[in-house]
Amino acid sequence: MPKPTFYITTPIYYPSATLHIGHCYTTVAADTMTRYKKMRGYDAYFLTGSDEHGQKIERAAAAAGMEPIRYVDGIIASFQELWRKFDIDYSDFIRTTEPRHEEVVAEIFRRLRDQGDIYLGAYEGHYCVSCETFFTETQIKDAGGVCPDCGGHVDIVKEESYFFKMDKYADRLLAHIESHPDFIQPVSRRNEMVNFIKQGLEDLSISRTTFSWGIPVPDDPKHVIYVWLDALTNYISALGYTKGDERFERYWPADVHLVGKDIVRFHTIIWPIMLMALGLPLPKKVFAHGWILVNEGKMSKSKGNVVDPMILADRYSTDALRYFLLREFIFGTDGNYSEDVLISRVNVDLANDFGNLLSRTTAMIEKFQGGVIKAPGAKTEFDDELLALFRGVPGEMEEAMEKLEFHNALAAVWKIVTKANKYIDECAPWALNKNGETEKLATVLYNMAEAIRIATILLTPVMPNTPAKVFAQLGLEDKPELAAWDALTYGALPAGTVIRRGEPIFPRIETEKEAAPQKQEKKNKKNKAEAKKEQAAAKEEPAEGVITIDDFAKVRLKVGKVLAAEKVENADKLLKLTVRVGEEERTIVSGIAKFYAPDDVVGKNVAVVANLKPARLRGIESRGMLLCAENGDELELITVDTIADGGTIR
Ligand code: MSP
Repeated sequence: MPKPTFYITTPIYYPSATLHIGHCYTTVAADTMTRYKKMRGYDAYFLTGSDEHGQKIERAAAAAGMEPIRYVDGIIASFQELWRKFDIDYSDFIRTTEPRHEEVVAEIFRRLRDQGDIYLGAYEGHYCVSCETFFTETQIKDAGGVCPDCGGHVDIVKEESYFFKMDKYADRLLAHIESHPDFIQPVSRRNEMVNFIKQGLEDLSISRTTFSWGIPVPDDPKHVIYVWLDALTNYISALGYTKGDERFERYWPADVHLVGKDIVRFHTIIWPIMLMALGLPLPKKVFAHGWILVNEGKMSKSKGNVVDPMILADRYSTDALRYFLLREFIFGTDGNYSEDVLISRVNVDLANDFGNLLSRTTAMIEKFQGGVIKAPGAKTEFDDELLALFRGVPGEMEEAMEKLEFHNALAAVWKIVTKANKYIDECAPWALNKNGETEKLATVLYNMAEAIRIATILLTPVMPNTPAKVFAQLGLEDKPELAAWDALTYGALPAGTVIRRGEPIFPRIETEKEAAPQKQEKKNKKNKAEAKKEQAAAKEEPAEGVITIDDFAKVRLKVGKVLAAEKVENADKLLKLTVRVGEEERTIVSGIAKFYAPDDVVGKNVAVVANLKPARLRGIESRGMLLCAENGDELELITVDTIADGGTIR
């Protein structure tokens, strides 16, 4: 039986864009999805590339005194180097300046013109060179006279132009969107697009005569083809559409086009209409992810806040960065980047939770069993819960991956990691060893090794370099079959395996900030006796309205990330929030609806009172409370920029 296919794409990036972690985010996501599908037995194909035509590049090349193609060649080489560094294993990298692409674009133009969908007319409009986009009068007016997308200058452009009859296909497109609920994801984007189409589609100007760095219109070379028509075609030109290439038959229609929220319109209106006009099936899904922001704002060269992934990759391992990008941000909503959160994720999740699990396990196998993993012996009362996770988590991960919820897929894997660490503390192998309970000890150490092996298999698509390191330490480097998805079953690890302890796979990142509290702690210890005395005194006679430190310590304050939010029906003030606090997700009803729309709070890291007695509000059980600051009648959520959820506030 032939393997099922899976075709995924990222946008093709402009050479004018300095590639930053935002671009890495999409590309890492697509690469992870591809690796995951391959592990699941799919013939997965992953396309990325570069979008090299247009006036902006023509001008930049002229300013650099270079031929446009020489100018872009150097930049594209740096894109490819970045992708190599991040272990991006694309199936193909398409450049829109390659003849294999240009020929297909010209051929499509010719076909659509021959069948009457493209005609010659005249265009006058507001054009943003930076975004390569025309805008309507109203759009420009609403944006205050500047480009609605980038806020830059727009020119009034009048020129002879070819037009594409978009409106002819609008009803068919609407019907398609309505009958294919998965076509545009997330749902909020779908609604935006439906409203946009319902307002009526104008014919699209698809050629330019004001510059020449583009694909010439067939038989009318004073025009070049509009960059978006050119660029969108990459998804099929790369497969050899119109060339009788069997890859087109095999992979089209695409399973997923991953796009940023700013280019949804091109992918869910212009692109499907082009495909309909060509009589081709539409992609199964266009998924719009959110943006990675810095200090809640866009990254830009002018602000000087562009986060360079190459610099991060030199500082941290790319596996750690890939993990961070997919774990920290909710695919589909905006998220705020800071290096402190990155460090906190690496230290807490990777160095502490995962890395320590491996080092504790290998250290104990070495110390208590001479480095040999023995077959499980007598059961302990704690085994069942761990083994249930081995059975359940792969399915949870699968469900999350199908929905492109990478953060949830990783949270599911972390259930095993967290539970395995707890299992060690519950079973106390050192005590079993001391008491000579060798049968139970064998079980516990075996189960710990299996927890690591199973979690590692699940992490492989996200962190492609980590499995080899873990497997080497578990003594399994010559058994690749035990790293495959099919080997997720508990018990596949052969008894008698000899482990090989090694260096920590995710060393803890020491920062100046971290060193400072440690120094402080030493100082504190020095003054401990004194402090104790003072506390005791405070305990004796607390003044009225004053609480002791012990009273305060009863409140467990935690950082939580808002994953979802919705209004509570018939309650003006209440929002129902899904908040992730480390491993745990909880529902919290908060009285902030007058100050925050649901979309405004999703993705925020908030301060949660985590041990508040649950209360029922409008029939919803609320588990916890969010801290807010009051400003007169207004409420503002207390947010935490630099600490990942699960962190303690004290
Ligand atoms: N060339 C077009 C795409 C053509 S696809 C047929 C383009 N290129 S781009 O280089 O400007 O942007 C590519 C993608 O990067 C877009 O999906 C955009 O949303 C995404 N991102 C740019 N900045 C981003 C963040 N800060 N965060 C996440 N993604 C971001 O548009």
